[in-house]
Amino acid sequence: MKTIVKQTIKLGSRSYPICLGNRIINHLAEVASAESIPKNIAIITDQHVAPLHLKRVVDILRRHDFRIAEILIAPGERQKSIPTATKIITKLVKSNIERESTLFALGGGVVGDVTGFVAATYRRGVQLVQLPTTLLAMVESSIGGKTAVNHPLAKNAIGAFYQPKFVFSDVQFLQTLPSREVICGLGEVLKYAILDKNIFNFLYEHLNEILQLDLDVTQELILLCNTYKAKLIETDEFEKDTKGGRTVLNLGHTIGHALENLSKYKLHHGEAVLIGLKWELEIAGKAQIIDQNYFENISSLLERVAYHPKLNFLNYETLIRQIFKNGKKARFILPQTFGKVFITDKLKPSLIKAVIKRQLGK
Ligand SMILES: NC(=O)c1ccc[n+]([C@@H]2O[C@H](COP(=O)([O-])OP(=O)(O)OC[C@H]3O[C@@H](n4cnc5c(N)ncnc54)[C@H](O)[C@@H]3O)[C@@H](O)[C@H]2O)c1
Ligand SMILES: [Zn+2]
Repeated sequence: MKTIVKQTIKLGSRSYPICLGNRIINHLAEVASAESIPKNIAIITDQHVAPLHLKRVVDILRRHDFRIAEILIAPGERQKSIPTATKIITKLVKSNIERESTLFALGGGVVGDVTGFVAATYRRGVQLVQLPTTLLAMVESSIGGKTAVNHPLAKNAIGAFYQPKFVFSDVQFLQTLPSREVICGLGEVLKYAILDKNIFNFLYEHLNEILQLDLDVTQELILLCNTYKAKLIETDEFEKDTKGGRTVLNLGHTIGHALENLSKYKLHHGEAVLIGLKWELEIAGKAQIIDQNYFENISSLLERVAYHPKLNFLNYETLIRQIFKNGKKARFILPQTFGKVFITDKLKPSLIKAVIKRQLGK
């Protein structure tokens, strides 16, 4: 039997395990039974993931007497929407999925977020299982209970905190992941590396293996990220701590979200975060709040990823308006050194503007 590394997110009655491993999918039904998942389930996935991985998952569960409704959505960020949630719900109703059923999200962060949102609201809440298939979803979006869909005017505007019954990450799924999506995953991984010295050292040493998706090394990295995130969720499940807690995971996201929105989602979330990390690092440097040695180490790691997208769709003025939310203050989570961030909405706008101008080559 392949080893399943099990970590528990400790949240009292909402505690749940993250099962992680390589070639562990054959054990999915056992884990589901051990977690008392009822036999009536729906699997929600997207049209990229379905032809690659759905049959295997369905076969394994059917062999253990699970009755399964399969629901496919189109791929991509635009599916994180109320219309897609409604389509999923229509299929759930038609498939007689009742309150004591469970929704399995098989896919990346988009499938995970929209399925989580439906699970939190359908019949006032049905159980949720996360089966992440992207690096980004394994290190970040499948754990922690943040679920959401986007509003046309704002990303993640409609959502709920809703924890899954369990998370099951088989790194074998990553074998079919396009290289663009590996970079997206790295966006969130680099964020962890900036926050945590252990993860930084591991990534610094193993970056090339991760870029080539060496599955054993990647699994170790996912475990480190999950352990780091678990602690934050356990102390700040609902992101109430404005001075720390899980809000530190928004590092890189002030600029990242602005870029993602302005690109009309042509930039994927992880890509936008990766750029956001670089620019916000420069802002931290200019604001002189960052340890110099740490700054150089992080900069050199970010350079090694060698991600240099064309951003010619960006208009400087629109970007500034987006970051400052039409005249309001912009809140930044800036890195200072490992384990320490500076959370502020009091940076001089001229400093932020100077960095963005430089980055855009203006
Ligand atoms: N809930 C949270 O805490 C949280 C945290 C971070 C990000 N997010 C959200 O996650 C989303 C991004 O997630 P993502 O990067 O996984 O994007 P995604 O779900 O769009 O997946 C990326 C692409 O890869 C394809 N894909 C997925 N698995 C595959 C596989 N194994 N093989 C081949 N193709 C595969 C998908 O079809 C899609 O085209 C964003 O909406 C972001 O806001 C949520
Ligand atoms: Zn993110």
